[in-house]
Order: sequence, then structure tokens, then C-alpha cells
Amino acid sequence: MMTSSSADLLSTEPAVGAIQRHLDGVIDDLLSSLPAPERLSAEQRRAVIARYTAVLEGNFIYWMTGAWLAVKSDAARAKIMENLHEEVRDAHPLMMRRFATAARAVPTEIDVLAVQKNLTAVRLFIGRLSAVRIIVTMAFFEGLIQRFMPYLAELARLQGSEEMEYTDVHGVCDITHTEELYRALQAEMTLATDPAAAAENLFEGVELLHALIVDIVAGSSAPRRSIRRLQLEGV
Ligand SMILES: [Fe+2]
Repeated sequence: MMTSSSADLLSTEPAVGAIQRHLDGVIDDLLSSLPAPERLSAEQRRAVIARYTAVLEGNFIYWMTGAWLAVKSDAARAKIMENLHEEVRDAHPLMMRRFATAARAVPTEIDVLAVQKNLTAVRLFIGRLSAVRIIVTMAFFEGLIQRFMPYLAELARLQGSEEMEYTDVHGVCDITHTEELYRALQAEMTLATDPAAAAENLFEGVELLHALIVDIVAGSSAPRRSIRRLQLEGV
């Protein structure tokens, strides 16, 4: 189905390399800013796991489905389908729930509301189905999650949990997987024909997701008053 010329592919290669370097830098910065698990209180550790669960358990497959609806290239479709297949076949949301339950960190209303604002922003971004930007966002997320797993596992261990299937499965550093993901990005960039989309911020989804991860780690940036208002409005 995809019939890009090799000249077209070559012209996107430097751009893809630059995107990957940028995302790796954002991930490095984010990981180096994490507070040491042993310096957090038990409640702070519980809350990080709970907020992470509130975001990932019910949204990852939804985001991936949005990516599937948005992309046009065979390479991107194959990559996303492989991911969705694994998520559903191996019941990753159940794995996530087991991890949170064993660490006594099932999300409370406060945990859910703490990530609500930025989670909504990511949902609306995905809903715009902007193919290249969604793949860039996915590449950021996958790279980050993989490297975040030892931290999440350590939080759970300090909470007395031994249930590590979720972090073991998602912490595998798969070079081939990453290469395929960037090949998919290259294929989507080659197919991108919408000049308006090209002019928009390529890293919009990355920025929104970054804000959401900061909320997961540090608690909501929204003042308590705003959280109370969200509760009252039932948002
Ligand atoms: Fe997963």
C-alpha cells in the first residue's frame, strides 16, 4: 500500500534522527528529576503508584487505538497492531491492577482528580487523530515507560509488594521494538501531506504527556481548590 520512493525516505531520515535525540533528552531530564524512592513517605510512594495506575490502566489501549485510527502507513499500522494485540492478549490492564492492588495503591478519588486536567488534555489531543504527532508521542511514551519501570518497581517494593509482573514485562529494553517504532514514524512522515499539520507543533502530544507524567510523580500542579471544584462539578 505504501509506495514511498527511497528519495522520500532519505529526506525524512535526518528529521527522524533529530526527533529521537530530542525525545531521548526529554526522557533523560525527566528521569533525572525523579525524587529518590527511599526519601518519599509511604503515602507519597502510594500516591505515585496510584496516579500512574489511574492514567495507564484505562487509557493506554484507548490511546493506542487512537493511533491506529490516525496512521496511514503499513509500517505504523503493523507496529500499533502488534502492540494492541499484546495489550489485549496478555491483559495488561489486569496486570496493572494486580500491581496496584499488591502495593495497596488502588487509585482513590483524590488520585484520579489529581491527574484529571492533564489527562483530559492528552485525551483531546489523541482525539484530533494527527498521525505524525501521535506516533512521536507514542515513541516518547514507550521510551519513557521502559526506563521508568525500575523506579516504579522500587516504589512498590518499598511498599512491601512482591508483585512485579507489570514492571518486569514493561521494563524490557527492546532495541528492535524502538527501531521499528522510529521506522513507523519515518513512514508516516513520508506520507504526511497536510501542510497545516506539518506547521503545527510536532511535540504538542509530548508536552501534554510530559505535564501528565509530572502530575503522576509530583501530584497535581492544580491547586487544591481546583481539585475541590472538579469534585463539585463532577468533571
Ligand atoms: Fe502494556
